[in-house]
Amino acid sequence: MDRTVRTVEDVLALLDGLFASGSEAGRLTTGDGKGFWDRFYADRSRPVPFFVAKPDESLAAYLDQGLIAPGRVLDLGCGAGRNALFLASRGFEVDAVDLSLVAVAWAEDRAREVGVDVRFLCGDVFALPATELSGPYDLVVDSGCFHHLPPHRRVSYLALLNRVLAPSGHLALTSFAAGQGGMGSELADADLYRERELQGGIAYTPESLRWIFSHLVEIELRRMREEPPKSALFGATFLWTALFRRDAAASAASGDVRPVHDLA
Ligand SMILES: C[S@@+](CC[C@H](N)C(=O)[O-])C[C@H]1O[C@@H](n2cnc3c(N)ncnc32)[C@H](O)[C@@H]1O
Repeated sequence: MDRTVRTVEDVLALLDGLFASGSEAGRLTTGDGKGFWDRFYADRSRPVPFFVAKPDESLAAYLDQGLIAPGRVLDLGCGAGRNALFLASRGFEVDAVDLSLVAVAWAEDRAREVGVDVRFLCGDVFALPATELSGPYDLVVDSGCFHHLPPHRRVSYLALLNRVLAPSGHLALTSFAAGQGGMGSELADADLYRERELQGGIAYTPESLRWIFSHLVEIELRRMREEPPKSALFGATFLWTALFRRDAAASAASGDVRPVHDLA
């Protein structure tokens, strides 16, 4: 008889387990996703859009417009490091974390090739000790990790942001866009649990992103711009790209999300 649930973390781990027993495409994240992502990155020559060594056009635009400025940054689910390398080359002090050892090894090779300094970490961002990701970060970048998380891990995600984001820090998020020309599953949260499948990633509407990150101030939320093959930037219109800012005063007034892990 299993009566092991006692804390919030136990509930989250139990829900992770629902997806762990599904098909490979269903379990793209948290501890069980590691094998999937390791195999995903094993062949560096595959024509995967985000295998290119180009940063998101949105990140470059935020910098050009002065919306973000060099400081400490965390690249969450950094993959082969394209955004981490770009930010390091533009004067940011970068910590970059990914579940996949194969992805991190590739990112490290790229960093050596271009001669930039990035502190890469391998592990489940929700399981790494707080001492490894202590923050505070002026910028958290997430290009394509958030949309692979099961719904319950949004709780962990918001708790992580609460812990590591500096008082006026920014979140630069790129995620699957719901609707025409978008990508990702449009199943309701409850149905993802019924199906026990993450369906290769979750689609978001602008409203759902605004709801989830409603304790942050929206600076910009738009479709990513398509970038032509010859561009030095990455851009695809099936993605939203959003910039939010943590505003200490607004967070306090609207009842900020509490770090639920502390309640466990
Ligand atoms: C779609 S890829 C995007 C990679 C990279 N950000 C880019 O745009 O090139 C999503 C990445 O998130 C990572 N990931 C998923 N869940 C994670 C977790 N819980 N902790 C750390 N990394 C995670 C995967 O290993 C994968 O490399």
